Amino acid sequence: MDKTIIAANWKSNKTKIEAQKWLSEIALKSFPSNLEVIVFPPFTLLDYFSSFIRVNDIPLKIGAQDVSPFGSGAYTGEVAAEQIKEFADYVLIGHSERRSNFSESNELISQKIQQSVQQGLKPIVCIFDLQQLEGIPEEAIISYEPVGAIGTGQPQDPGQVAEFAKNVKAKSNCPIIYGGSVSPDNMKNYLSIENVSGLLIGGQSLDENSFMKIIENAS
Ligand code: PGA
Repeated sequence: MDKTIIAANWKSNKTKIEAQKWLSEIALKSFPSNLEVIVFPPFTLLDYFSSFIRVNDIPLKIGAQDVSPFGSGAYTGEVAAEQIKEFADYVLIGHSERRSNFSESNELISQKIQQSVQQGLKPIVCIFDLQQLEGIPEEAIISYEPVGAIGTGQPQDPGQVAEFAKNVKAKSNCPIIYGGSVSPDNMKNYLSIENVSGLLIGGQSLDENSFMKIIENAS
């Protein structure tokens, strides 16, 4: 993929009213064509998001923050890839918050990737060590997310990100993005790294002004 990826991971944040405010501000701005801007809202907002961007003709892409490792059927509480693809093009898989809080194994993550790819959803797979690369297919995007950098305000040293990205590239052709305390002030340190094709942004994506600043700085 040639475009620079700017992805917003909202985690378990925002009600519909809050999302309406964010989207109506974002709708007034223009989006540079060199960027693939993706928002990962909670499941509760996928339908609203996809209608809003279609009606208002906003060049945003939508992703789901998780996907069932199974297909449709008797899996209470799960949302299948087939259901997600009605609203989204991307899916986030294997975030460290899911690996630690929900004990997600590499095997479960592989099943989720398989379900997504089968349904034509593009997986963004989060990893923090090279062993987690195993089984990630070439259709995926890899997000390097060192655990200590997530939500701490202490982003990873850009030299270490460059080193990790180089090691990933030696084993995989997938595009690589970086996530962990990215802000409008530090983002250029990461986008300038060879082999880094974009950013995954948590906290700073929740405020529409910070997120638009990141988009402007990336263009
Ligand atoms: P953060 O989150 O930007 O708040 O550190 C990044 C992520 O978890 O994807």
